Amino acid sequence: MGTRDRIEIEDDLDRMAERAANLFLNAAKEKVDRQGRFAVALSGGSTPRPMFRLLSQDPYAAEIPWHSTHIFWVDERMVPFDHPDSNFGAAKEDFLDTISIAPDHLHPMPTWTKPEEGAEIYEAELKAYFDRFGDGFPIFDLILLGVGNDGHTASLFPGQRSLGETQRRVLNVKGGEPDLPRLTLTLPVLNRGKEVVFLVSGKKKASLLQAILQHKDPRLPARMVQPSSGELTWILDREAASLLNEEVIHG
Ligand code: 6PG
Repeated sequence: MGTRDRIEIEDDLDRMAERAANLFLNAAKEKVDRQGRFAVALSGGSTPRPMFRLLSQDPYAAEIPWHSTHIFWVDERMVPFDHPDSNFGAAKEDFLDTISIAPDHLHPMPTWTKPEEGAEIYEAELKAYFDRFGDGFPIFDLILLGVGNDGHTASLFPGQRSLGETQRRVLNVKGGEPDLPRLTLTLPVLNRGKEVVFLVSGKKKASLLQAILQHKDPRLPARMVQPSSGELTWILDREAASLLNEEVIHG
Protein backbone atom coordinates (compact mmCIF):
# COMPACT_ATOMS: atom_id res chain seq x y z
CA MET A 1 0.00 0.00 0.00
CA GLY A 2 1.06 3.53 -0.99
CA THR A 3 2.89 5.98 1.18
CA ARG A 4 5.96 4.98 3.13
CA ASP A 5 5.69 5.20 6.91
CA ARG A 6 8.55 7.11 8.48
CA ILE A 7 8.78 5.95 12.08
CA GLU A 8 10.49 7.94 14.83
CA ILE A 9 10.73 6.54 18.34
CA GLU A 10 11.24 8.77 21.36
CA ASP A 11 11.80 7.72 24.98
CA ASP A 12 8.53 9.02 26.37
CA LEU A 13 5.64 11.42 25.86
CA ASP A 14 7.70 14.46 26.91
CA ARG A 15 10.36 13.73 24.28
CA MET A 16 7.58 13.16 21.71
CA ALA A 17 6.14 16.54 22.61
CA GLU A 18 9.52 18.20 22.04
CA ARG A 19 10.02 16.44 18.73
CA ALA A 20 6.52 17.40 17.55
CA ALA A 21 6.90 21.02 18.69
CA ASN A 22 10.20 21.27 16.78
CA LEU A 23 8.59 19.74 13.73
CA PHE A 24 5.78 22.31 13.96
CA LEU A 25 8.29 25.16 14.33
CA ASN A 26 10.40 24.00 11.37
CA ALA A 27 7.41 23.36 9.12
CA ALA A 28 5.93 26.79 9.94
CA LYS A 29 9.20 28.64 9.29
CA GLU A 30 9.91 26.76 6.08
CA LYS A 31 6.41 27.24 4.65
CA VAL A 32 6.23 30.91 5.60
CA ASP A 33 9.66 31.52 4.02
CA ARG A 34 8.65 29.68 0.88
CA GLN A 35 4.97 30.58 0.38
CA GLY A 36 4.20 33.29 2.96
CA ARG A 37 1.67 31.24 4.93
CA PHE A 38 1.32 28.10 7.00
CA ALA A 39 -1.93 26.15 7.44
CA VAL A 40 -2.06 23.45 10.10
CA ALA A 41 -4.83 21.11 11.26
CA LEU A 42 -4.67 19.97 14.89
CA SER A 43 -6.06 16.84 16.40
CA GLY A 44 -7.88 16.44 19.70
CA GLY A 45 -7.41 13.83 22.38
CA SER A 46 -4.87 13.78 25.18
CA THR A 47 -1.65 12.85 23.33
CA PRO A 48 -0.89 16.22 21.68
CA ARG A 49 -1.51 18.24 24.85
CA PRO A 50 2.08 18.20 26.20
CA MET A 51 3.17 19.43 22.78
CA PHE A 52 0.50 22.15 22.81
CA ARG A 53 1.78 23.29 26.20
CA LEU A 54 5.30 23.56 24.79
CA LEU A 55 4.00 25.77 21.99
CA SER A 56 2.96 28.30 24.63
CA GLN A 57 6.61 28.58 25.74
CA ASP A 58 9.79 29.88 24.12
CA PRO A 59 11.48 29.20 21.82
CA TYR A 60 8.26 28.01 20.12
CA ALA A 61 5.96 30.85 21.19
CA ALA A 62 8.51 33.45 20.11
CA GLU A 63 9.82 31.82 16.92
CA ILE A 64 6.77 30.34 15.23
CA PRO A 65 5.53 32.87 12.66
CA TRP A 66 2.01 33.06 14.13
CA HIS A 67 1.19 36.15 12.03
CA SER A 68 1.25 33.92 8.92
CA THR A 69 -0.17 30.78 10.56
CA HIS A 70 -3.76 29.59 10.31
CA ILE A 71 -4.93 26.89 12.71
CA PHE A 72 -7.76 24.48 11.88
CA TRP A 73 -8.95 21.26 13.54
CA VAL A 74 -9.18 17.71 12.19
CA ASP A 75 -12.18 16.99 14.37
CA GLU A 76 -14.34 18.31 17.16
CA ARG A 77 -16.87 17.06 19.65
CA MET A 78 -20.23 18.92 19.53
CA VAL A 79 -19.90 20.53 22.94
CA PRO A 80 -19.37 24.19 23.89
CA PHE A 81 -15.75 25.40 23.79
CA ASP A 82 -15.62 25.68 27.58
CA HIS A 83 -16.65 22.02 28.00
CA PRO A 84 -13.86 19.64 29.17
CA ASP A 85 -14.36 17.49 26.03
CA SER A 86 -13.86 20.37 23.59
CA ASN A 87 -10.76 19.96 21.41
CA PHE A 88 -10.64 23.70 20.70
CA GLY A 89 -11.11 24.43 24.41
CA ALA A 90 -8.15 22.19 25.29
CA ALA A 91 -5.87 23.89 22.75
CA LYS A 92 -7.04 27.31 23.95
CA GLU A 93 -6.11 26.44 27.48
CA ASP A 94 -2.80 24.82 26.46
CA PHE A 95 -1.42 27.50 24.13
CA LEU A 96 -3.85 29.56 22.08
CA ASP A 97 -4.63 31.94 24.92
CA THR A 98 -0.92 32.59 25.46
CA ILE A 99 0.51 33.06 21.97
CA SER A 100 0.21 36.17 19.81
CA ILE A 101 -2.13 35.06 17.07
CA ALA A 102 -4.89 37.08 15.46
CA PRO A 103 -8.35 35.69 16.35
CA ASP A 104 -9.26 35.39 12.67
CA HIS A 105 -6.33 32.99 12.21
CA LEU A 106 -8.07 30.47 14.47
CA HIS A 107 -10.62 28.24 12.79
CA PRO A 108 -12.40 26.14 15.41
CA MET A 109 -15.08 23.79 14.13
CA PRO A 110 -18.57 25.20 14.80
CA THR A 111 -20.28 23.46 17.69
CA TRP A 112 -23.01 26.01 18.34
CA THR A 113 -25.25 24.65 15.63
CA LYS A 114 -26.80 21.36 14.47
CA PRO A 115 -24.10 18.85 13.43
CA GLU A 116 -25.16 18.74 9.73
CA GLU A 117 -25.10 22.51 9.58
CA GLY A 118 -21.79 22.61 11.42
CA ALA A 119 -20.23 20.38 8.76
CA GLU A 120 -21.50 22.71 6.02
CA ILE A 121 -20.28 25.82 7.79
CA TYR A 122 -16.80 24.38 8.27
CA GLU A 123 -16.69 23.17 4.70
CA ALA A 124 -17.44 26.76 3.61
CA GLU A 125 -14.77 28.07 5.99
CA LEU A 126 -12.16 25.75 4.46
CA LYS A 127 -13.23 26.81 1.00
CA ALA A 128 -13.01 30.49 1.90
CA TYR A 129 -9.47 30.06 3.19
CA PHE A 130 -8.01 27.66 0.63
CA ASP A 131 -9.75 28.94 -2.49
CA ARG A 132 -7.81 32.20 -2.18
CA PHE A 133 -4.72 30.24 -3.03
CA GLY A 134 -6.26 28.40 -5.95
CA ASP A 135 -5.86 25.02 -4.29
CA GLY A 136 -9.53 23.98 -4.67
CA PHE A 137 -9.54 21.12 -2.18
CA PRO A 138 -7.91 22.10 1.13
CA ILE A 139 -4.20 21.29 1.15
CA PHE A 140 -2.80 21.58 4.67
CA ASP A 141 0.90 22.14 5.18
CA LEU A 142 0.81 20.06 8.34
CA ILE A 143 -1.82 17.71 9.77
CA LEU A 144 -1.43 16.29 13.27
CA LEU A 145 -3.33 13.10 14.01
CA GLY A 146 -3.80 10.63 16.84
CA VAL A 147 -5.08 7.06 16.92
CA GLY A 148 -7.93 5.91 19.16
CA ASN A 149 -8.00 2.46 20.77
CA ASP A 150 -10.26 1.15 17.99
CA GLY A 151 -7.96 2.45 15.23
CA HIS A 152 -9.96 5.60 14.52
CA THR A 153 -8.26 8.81 13.55
CA ALA A 154 -9.72 12.31 13.56
CA SER A 155 -13.38 11.24 14.06
CA LEU A 156 -13.28 8.62 11.32
CA PHE A 157 -14.43 5.45 13.06
CA PRO A 158 -14.06 1.82 11.88
CA GLY A 159 -16.93 0.57 9.74
CA GLN A 160 -18.63 3.96 9.37
CA ARG A 161 -19.83 5.32 6.05
CA SER A 162 -17.69 8.42 6.46
CA LEU A 163 -14.67 6.31 5.43
CA GLY A 164 -16.00 6.03 1.86
CA GLU A 165 -16.50 9.77 1.39
CA THR A 166 -14.86 11.19 -1.71
CA GLN A 167 -16.44 14.65 -2.19
CA ARG A 168 -17.20 16.26 1.16
CA ARG A 169 -14.41 17.93 3.13
CA VAL A 170 -16.22 17.77 6.46
CA LEU A 171 -18.81 15.34 7.83
CA ASN A 172 -20.89 15.06 10.96
CA VAL A 173 -20.60 11.64 12.59
CA LYS A 174 -21.23 10.02 15.95
CA GLY A 175 -18.95 7.83 18.01
CA GLY A 176 -15.73 7.63 19.98
CA GLU A 177 -14.91 8.15 23.61
CA PRO A 178 -16.71 10.21 24.72
CA ASP A 179 -19.47 8.91 22.43
CA LEU A 180 -20.74 12.22 21.04
CA PRO A 181 -21.88 13.81 17.81
CA ARG A 182 -18.73 15.12 16.17
CA LEU A 183 -17.42 16.91 13.11
CA THR A 184 -14.48 15.49 11.21
CA LEU A 185 -12.33 16.20 8.19
CA THR A 186 -12.62 13.42 5.62
CA LEU A 187 -9.97 11.13 4.13
CA PRO A 188 -9.68 13.13 0.87
CA VAL A 189 -8.58 16.14 2.97
CA LEU A 190 -6.23 14.15 5.21
CA ASN A 191 -4.70 12.45 2.18
CA ARG A 192 -3.90 15.76 0.50
CA GLY A 193 -1.83 16.92 3.47
CA LYS A 194 1.76 17.88 2.61
CA GLU A 195 3.04 16.55 5.91
CA VAL A 196 0.92 14.23 8.02
CA VAL A 197 2.15 13.31 11.48
CA PHE A 198 0.66 10.78 13.88
CA LEU A 199 1.48 11.04 17.58
CA VAL A 200 0.88 7.80 19.50
CA SER A 201 2.01 6.95 23.00
CA GLY A 202 1.65 4.23 25.61
CA LYS A 203 1.63 0.44 25.93
CA LYS A 204 -2.14 0.33 25.46
CA LYS A 205 -1.68 1.27 21.80
CA ALA A 206 1.20 -1.17 21.07
CA SER A 207 -0.84 -3.99 19.49
CA LEU A 208 -2.96 -1.52 17.57
CA LEU A 209 0.19 0.02 16.10
CA GLN A 210 1.36 -3.44 15.18
CA ALA A 211 -1.92 -3.97 13.30
CA ILE A 212 -1.55 -0.62 11.51
CA LEU A 213 2.16 -0.52 10.73
CA GLN A 214 3.16 -4.19 10.56
CA HIS A 215 0.04 -6.05 9.44
CA LYS A 216 -1.23 -3.01 7.54
CA ASP A 217 -4.85 -3.85 8.38
CA PRO A 218 -6.76 -1.93 5.70
CA ARG A 219 -9.95 -1.73 7.77
CA LEU A 220 -8.40 0.56 10.35
CA PRO A 221 -9.13 4.21 9.62
CA ALA A 222 -5.63 5.29 10.69
CA ARG A 223 -4.21 2.94 8.01
CA MET A 224 -6.41 4.60 5.38
CA VAL A 225 -4.42 7.80 5.81
CA GLN A 226 -2.04 7.54 2.87
CA PRO A 227 -1.09 11.06 1.72
CA SER A 228 -0.94 10.93 -2.07
CA SER A 229 2.14 13.09 -2.40
CA GLY A 230 2.88 14.16 1.16
CA GLU A 231 5.01 12.66 3.88
CA LEU A 232 3.66 10.35 6.56
CA THR A 233 5.49 10.34 9.89
CA TRP A 234 4.74 8.40 13.06
CA ILE A 235 6.15 9.84 16.28
CA LEU A 236 5.89 7.10 18.90
CA ASP A 237 7.21 6.49 22.36
CA ARG A 238 9.07 3.27 23.26
CA GLU A 239 6.00 1.70 24.83
CA ALA A 240 3.76 2.29 21.84
CA ALA A 241 6.48 0.97 19.50
CA SER A 242 7.33 -2.05 21.67
CA LEU A 243 5.70 -4.68 19.41
CA LEU A 244 7.03 -3.41 16.08
CA ASN A 245 9.75 -5.43 14.37
CA GLU A 246 13.04 -3.95 13.15
CA GLU A 247 12.02 -4.18 9.53
CA VAL A 248 8.98 -1.99 10.14
CA ILE A 249 10.92 0.49 12.26
CA HIS A 250 13.77 0.94 9.80
CA GLY A 251 11.66 0.60 6.66
C1 6PG B 1 -10.70 13.18 19.09
C2 6PG B 1 -9.40 12.93 18.40
C3 6PG B 1 -9.08 11.48 18.17
C4 6PG B 1 -7.84 11.21 18.98
C5 6PG B 1 -7.68 9.76 19.30
C6 6PG B 1 -6.51 9.52 20.24
O1 6PG B 1 -11.19 14.29 19.04
O2 6PG B 1 -11.18 12.26 19.75
O3 6PG B 1 -8.97 13.81 17.46
O4 6PG B 1 -8.96 11.06 16.87
O5 6PG B 1 -6.71 11.70 18.31
O6 6PG B 1 -8.85 9.29 19.89
O7 6PG B 1 -6.80 10.11 21.46
P1 6PG B 1 -5.79 10.13 22.64
O8 6PG B 1 -4.66 11.01 22.24
O9 6PG B 1 -6.56 10.73 23.78
O10 6PG B 1 -5.37 8.72 22.88
